[in-house]
Amino acid sequence: MNKKTIRDVDWAGKRALVRVDFNVPLDDQGLITDDTRIRAALPTIRYLLEHGASVVLMSHLGRPKGKPDPKYSLRPVVERLFELLPEATEVKKTEAITGPAAEAAVAMLKPGQVLVLENTRFDPREEKNDPQMAAELAKLGDVYVNDAFGTAHRANASTEGVAHYLPAVAGFLMEKELAYIGGALSNPQRPFVTVIGGAKISDKIGVIENLLGKVDALLIGGGMANTFLLAKGLNLGDSLVEPDSVAVAQQLMAKAEERGARLLLPVDVVIADAFSAEAQRQVVAVDAVPAGWRVLDIGPKTIELYSAEIRAARTVIWNGPMGVFELEPFAAGTRAIAQAMAEASANGAITIVGGGDSVAAVEQAGLAEKMSHVSTGGGASLELLEGRVLPGVAALQDAE
Ligand code: 3PG
Repeated sequence: MNKKTIRDVDWAGKRALVRVDFNVPLDDQGLITDDTRIRAALPTIRYLLEHGASVVLMSHLGRPKGKPDPKYSLRPVVERLFELLPEATEVKKTEAITGPAAEAAVAMLKPGQVLVLENTRFDPREEKNDPQMAAELAKLGDVYVNDAFGTAHRANASTEGVAHYLPAVAGFLMEKELAYIGGALSNPQRPFVTVIGGAKISDKIGVIENLLGKVDALLIGGGMANTFLLAKGLNLGDSLVEPDSVAVAQQLMAKAEERGARLLLPVDVVIADAFSAEAQRQVVAVDAVPAGWRVLDIGPKTIELYSAEIRAARTVIWNGPMGVFELEPFAAGTRAIAQAMAEASANGAITIVGGGDSVAAVEQAGLAEKMSHVSTGGGASLELLEGRVLPGVAALQDAE
């Protein structure tokens, strides 16, 4: 990453305006069910406090449609942050986002203190990347820090626009995400293997296209593998398939061959007679899926094949589950990938998990700690894998 970071700024007496991604999952009672994203921002906040700055934090939470909605208030996040950050002399919250009330709250802030603004998406101008809102936000700090990797693919007033009004640098989380994912893509240790899953091929076309020029092997699983198998002329019974994407699947397979990347598809699958944990199920070869049955996971031979590829790799990136892992009878394939990646890490490989579902699977399997890097970004990590420039990153100052 060729961008300035918080290390390049003298923070003594300065006010840091920091965009974080505190878009955390909440339960029905409004309690945080996973605080990973809050914890992931702590190194940056701590560094700023330790170096004499006061910190103004801004984030979105959920999709409140441009107006205040108590369900999406950052209040629970502030409470959690207060618990996680005992070194801050104070963690305050304001109901304001910009304007006189926010400016007054910021003016009271002393070095060592943290102020959290209310959900930036309560302002309809945020997602329009309105320059006026960006200018108003810029009044709340001396230097802008973007540590919200998970939202860096959105060009919003608090993630992109504001960077045009203040000196703008990256935080540690942003730096780390870009170093791992960007580093693997630009300069991978080989063999470089990627595992791509998920329901739909149409969501991952850009990713596969970009990866085909870089990887040694691409292992395909999840519902999207069905469309590749269909493109090879196989009958998938009642499985989820995307007939409109068959031509694309064929092109991708041809491209893989052209570029010398091995594109692997499942050789066997777990099928069920209904989309349910209670359904009847069996393991069959991919060319033996009967009518009335559907593919819901990769089979044991595929697990063995994919695991061997992963264990022999020096760099592995994984995005998307291998099956319907939310239903226990169809979770084995996804879990096996997590396990093989943990083993690859133990052998010294760089292992990166990106994307909401695969991260959830790795956490469920209790293997998150065994990965080199578990990304905090879903959409953002996908766009990076597609080779796109993230607007929130592009707007930061280049390193000298
Ligand atoms: C995410 O959770 O992927 C980010 O916080 C972005 O949220 P969004 O998809 O609502 O823009």
